[in-house]
Amino acid sequence: MRILTILALSSLLKVALGVEAPEGKEVLLVDDPKQPFLISHELQVNIFLGSGGEGIVRMDRTVPGIHGLINQAPLASWETDDQTVQRAVFDLIGIGASPAPRVYLVNTALFLDRPQPYQVAALSALPAGPRTTEQRKGGSVTFRTTDWFEDAAIKQLKAGHALVTYTEGHVIRAVGAIRASESCLRCHDQNKAGDLLGAFTYFAVSSPGNDKVKRDQLAKLLDQKAAPDEIVAALGYHPRERQRHADDNSQTPEMWTNMELARNGFVTQTLISAVQKQREDLEVLHLQISHKNAHTGWNDSVETRPLKKTAGS
Ligand code: HEC
Repeated sequence: MRILTILALSSLLKVALGVEAPEGKEVLLVDDPKQPFLISHELQVNIFLGSGGEGIVRMDRTVPGIHGLINQAPLASWETDDQTVQRAVFDLIGIGASPAPRVYLVNTALFLDRPQPYQVAALSALPAGPRTTEQRKGGSVTFRTTDWFEDAAIKQLKAGHALVTYTEGHVIRAVGAIRASESCLRCHDQNKAGDLLGAFTYFAVSSPGNDKVKRDQLAKLLDQKAAPDEIVAALGYHPRERQRHADDNSQTPEMWTNMELARNGFVTQTLISAVQKQREDLEVLHLQISHKNAHTGWNDSVETRPLKKTAGS
């Protein structure tokens, strides 16, 4: 993780974006896959990519809280050495389809009127900016403009970084990349693989970490490559419960353990590889779908606005 102080960024920001960043604030570039916020983001992107529909329609099925998919945030909170981080809300920043980036207000809009207690602080950091509404086939969509942090973050994502965070008091904000892979280019035909099509903008809250003893114990066991049962016990579960918890979460016992470790700030190589594998499997699936639908017309999902006319549609 590299640290850019705003002192270093501020002149850049003023010139490039015409905005002023609060002084003395730090924007962090997060590219280490072992950082919990990054793996949390990558898991969330996999859910987005695995959801049916296109663009914003995917959000309906991705955002915790909509259609009861609250448990669709696979890693919504975690503990590190000095803090507990709880993701409160997140939304999609559209980058590909409009002249300037804009934030679809889906998740935050849902909770603005009646936020859960843990969301209150995070939502207080919601940028005020102007709202616009567009009519779509499925109903109306409200957007807000991005603020200085999101603009600065998008710039870093375009330069190849994975996630950017910014902390103000107890609120941690983060913006993480959603990039085009080969299968996206059929519709996103102005782009190439690796291009930034969108981003998630997160609002999280931090509180003091509370279980240093447990974390030290886990660190020791992981270092010693201890048996799974020992690790599960140190996580605070009876090893016999492992299978049941895994079943409850539709996970293998190994995945469940690795997700629990991530919640305790330990992102294992096993988890990183599993998330990558999940992404690759999705890509294979998307390429198959595009092959199949190339002959039948692709759009059997909720219709939005095609980016490109395809043969037969
Ligand atoms: C079948 C066509 C199709 C495919 C394939 C497709 N998209 Fe899209 N995507 C769309 C359409 C259409 C929109 C615009 C939706 C709108 O404006 O509401 C969109 C919008 C988006 C947006 C929001 C962009 C913005 O500016 O609003 C993101 C992010 C996105 N797609 C990511 C992806 C990724 C990543 C892939 C590949 C894994 C992909 N899409 C594959 C059709 C597709």
